[in-house]
Parts: sequence; C-alpha cells; structure tokens
Amino acid sequence: MAIQVVILAAGQGKRMQSTLPKVLHLLAGKPLLTHVVETALKLSDLPPMVVYGEQGEQLQSKLASFPITWVHQPEPRGTGHALLQTLEFLKEDHRILILYADGPLVSKDLLQTFISKTAVNELGIITVFLDNPHGYGRIIRDAENKVTCIVEEKDATPEEKTIKEINSGIYLVSAEKLKHWLPMLTSHNQQGEYYLTDIASFAVQEKYAINTTTPQYAEEVLGINDRIQLSQMERFYQQKIAKNLMRQGVTLIDPNRFDLRGELIAGRDVTIDINVICEGKVVLGHHCHIGANTILRNVDLGERVIIKANSIIEEAKIGDDCVIGPFARIRPGTELQKKVHIGNFVEIKNSQINEQTKINHLSYIGDSEIGKHVNVGAGTITCNYDGVKKSKTTIHDHAFIGSDTQLVAPVTIGEGAIIGAGSTVTQDAPAHQLTVTTKLEQRSWLKKN
Ligand code: UD1
Ligand code: CA
Repeated sequence: MAIQVVILAAGQGKRMQSTLPKVLHLLAGKPLLTHVVETALKLSDLPPMVVYGEQGEQLQSKLASFPITWVHQPEPRGTGHALLQTLEFLKEDHRILILYADGPLVSKDLLQTFISKTAVNELGIITVFLDNPHGYGRIIRDAENKVTCIVEEKDATPEEKTIKEINSGIYLVSAEKLKHWLPMLTSHNQQGEYYLTDIASFAVQEKYAINTTTPQYAEEVLGINDRIQLSQMERFYQQKIAKNLMRQGVTLIDPNRFDLRGELIAGRDVTIDINVICEGKVVLGHHCHIGANTILRNVDLGERVIIKANSIIEEAKIGDDCVIGPFARIRPGTELQKKVHIGNFVEIKNSQINEQTKINHLSYIGDSEIGKHVNVGAGTITCNYDGVKKSKTTIHDHAFIGSDTQLVAPVTIGEGAIIGAGSTVTQDAPAHQLTVTTKLEQRSWLKKN
C-alpha cells in the first residue's frame, strides 16, 4: 500500500516570539519544514501534503522547489482539525503517515522501521519515554500494557502527569480509518481543540489494534516550540553529524565546535580544527587540514590542501597542495591550480591562478588571470573597477610584481616581466623586461568657492 505523508504545519508557533513562521526557522541552515519534506520524499513517491495556516505564501515560496500538495487550514483549531482538511484529498487505498513540521529530526530509518513494524490494519504511534514529559500528551495503558488513550497535559490528572511515556505525534494509519474517525472528533476538552490524539480511543473502542514504536534517540521525534529547544536540537543534530564524520575518518579536534549547514564530503585523514563552519556543498580531498575559525561555503578542495586559521572561502575550487591563510578571503569564481600559496590579508575574487604562484601578503586580486610561478608582492592591488565597469588583469607565467603595485585594468603583464615596487601600471608591460612607473609630481589646488 502506498504511503501518503501528511505534514502538519499550521500551528501558530507563538512561543518562538517571531514574525517568521515557526516552521521556517533554521536548523543546520535549513528551514524546519524543509527537513521534514526532504525526509518525506525519501519515504514515498507521492508528493507530501503540507497543511498550512497563515503566511502560506511565505512557506510556498521558500519550498517552491519541492513537489508538495498544499492544503489550507483556515483556522488553527487543533491537530485533528488540521488533518480533517486533507480528508477530501486522501485516497482510500493509501496509508497515511502523519508528521509535524516542528519535528525536523525524525529520520528516514526510524520511519521505515515504523512503517514495516506497523501492520496495514493497525494504528501505529511513535512514543518515547522522557524524564521530563511536561507539556506532551501521555500514553495511557491498561493492566495488559495495551494503549487505552492519549491524554494531553492540560487534560491530565495529577496521576496521569507522572507517566513518562509520551506521544510523539507521529502516526501511521489507513486513509480508510481516518475517513471514518476524523469526522467523529469533538472539541470537548480543556483547549477547545479537535485533538488528533482522540483517534487512539476510537481505535480502542472499535477493538482496532494499536502498535507503538520507540526510537533509539528521543531527540529524533521531539518538537521545537521555542528558541531554547531549537538550539538544543541544533546541537543534537550537529553532534550526530560530527560522530558520523569521525566514523568516516575525519579528525574533529572538538566535535562540539564544528558546524555543518549542508553537505560535507571528506576524504581520508582530513583534520578540522575548532570553530569551523561548512555551508552548502563542501568537498575536502584526502589529507586536507582546515584551521580554526574558518568558514567554507560551496568549495571544492583537492588533496593535502592546508587552510590556515581565520580564512573565509566561498564558491571556489582549490587545487592539490595549496596553502591558504591565515586570514585569507577567497570569494566566488576563484580557481586555484595546484601548489598556489595565498597568504594573510589577501582577497581573491573571480580569478584563475595557475600552479605555484604566490600571493602572500596584503593584496587584492579581482577579475584576473594569473599564470604559473608568478610572484605577487605585498600590497599589490588589481584596480578592476573604474566606477562603471569591471575589467580584467592578465599576468603571464614567471612574472614578478614588486610590492605596493597597482595594476590598473584592463592590463596585461607579459611573461617573465618584472614590475618595480610602487608602480602604478596603466599600460601593458612587455615580457622579460623591467617596468617601473615614476611617481607623478604631487600637486595641490586650493578649492574655490
Ligand atoms: C501535540 C499532541 C501531543 C504530543 C505533541 C508532540 C495533540 C492534541 N497533541 O501537542 O499529544 O505529545 O504534539 O509534539 O495532537 N498544527 C496544525 N494545526 C493546528 C494545530 C497544530 O497544523 O490547528 C500543527 C502544528 O504546526 C505542529 C503540530 O500540528 O506542527 C503539533 O501542534 P502543537 O500545537 O505543537 O501540538 P502540541 O500541543 O505540541
Ligand atoms: Ca508541539
């Protein structure tokens, strides 16, 4: 039987104290709802249904790239009421897996186990045991340990409140049964809401079997209601990723001070020092070393690359054996061939730099193409922008650029050319010759008026 995932996302999320809808807050750099939608897409070929309330346009535009059937809940009148909105779209012969948009860490593996352990003619519920179950619905069982009902915190007796087994809110049930039960819900409870949890009592009344599944880590199924829980879930997620990376052969100097907001593909014997943030898609070849306080965003590093502390590298491709930093900034569109050295306080943007070239101190290189074995002296700047348009600087192989040089683009430096220190180069410099520009006479005028 095909699985239709329904994700409830219409709650107000008041406890976030935010103008942003709760389910668009970020965990590991990605909206909570996106995590759940991605998991749903791994479980079923059918587009997940997302029940939304206010701010629907924001949700739809943020998740525009995913196949989703959007279902509107006009007023937040409870989880049962939310699901009721989907009823007309559910196909009788589907099994419905209900997830919450504010529970982003539920894994594909857990849900697959849940699906395979729940028979087609059973109501499946994921439950967990919590030391502090406050706020959650409690699972009430009879003398034979069979579930009899779920009681919400606000409706629970003091005795029921001591129960530590809670309802995660994740259910699996046939569409046929939902179509039968949902219209039976009432709002006769403390919160005046239509509780989805009441389907458990309906199942019991009709002697319909209930099967509960418990995950290995409670965090997987816990919901996020405020920013404290958001930060706790972020850490839980990061620690899980960190452990996986270490198992794959990455050394993390301190797994508590590593953050991945995207995807990391790392070779063997990669070492990552503290406070490194990886965003987007990051590829690290074998034996790379990433220094402390470094940010890598959509970068591809070859093998044995050394990034020294406090460097920021984005949208760049770095060849084998390059050495970068400390305090280097590599911006989008940069490509370094092998054994390039980029030193401290150097900014490179949209430039191709060939093998064994060195730019070691205090330079800005933008919109440039630099050959092999070039030495760019301290304080060299490509003046790529004249206030209207950007122009290109080309430096051929084996050129030597003296310190404190300005290369006013468009300009080409020939092969093996030497530029004397302090030059302002406005015309192409010939190959294999020394070019020095003399200082312009310094003149001042009195400003009139
Ligand atoms: C719910 C369960 C509780 C369970 C807990 C687990 C009910 C009555 N209670 O409580 O047993 O322990 O989750 O986290 O189901 N939503 C809507 N429309 C609404 C109300 C909620 O779409 O009208 C969505 C929310 O966006 C959220 C989810 O349903 O994703 C859960 O809603 P929430 O109000 O957080 O339920 P809890 O009170 O936490
Ligand atoms: Ca909740």
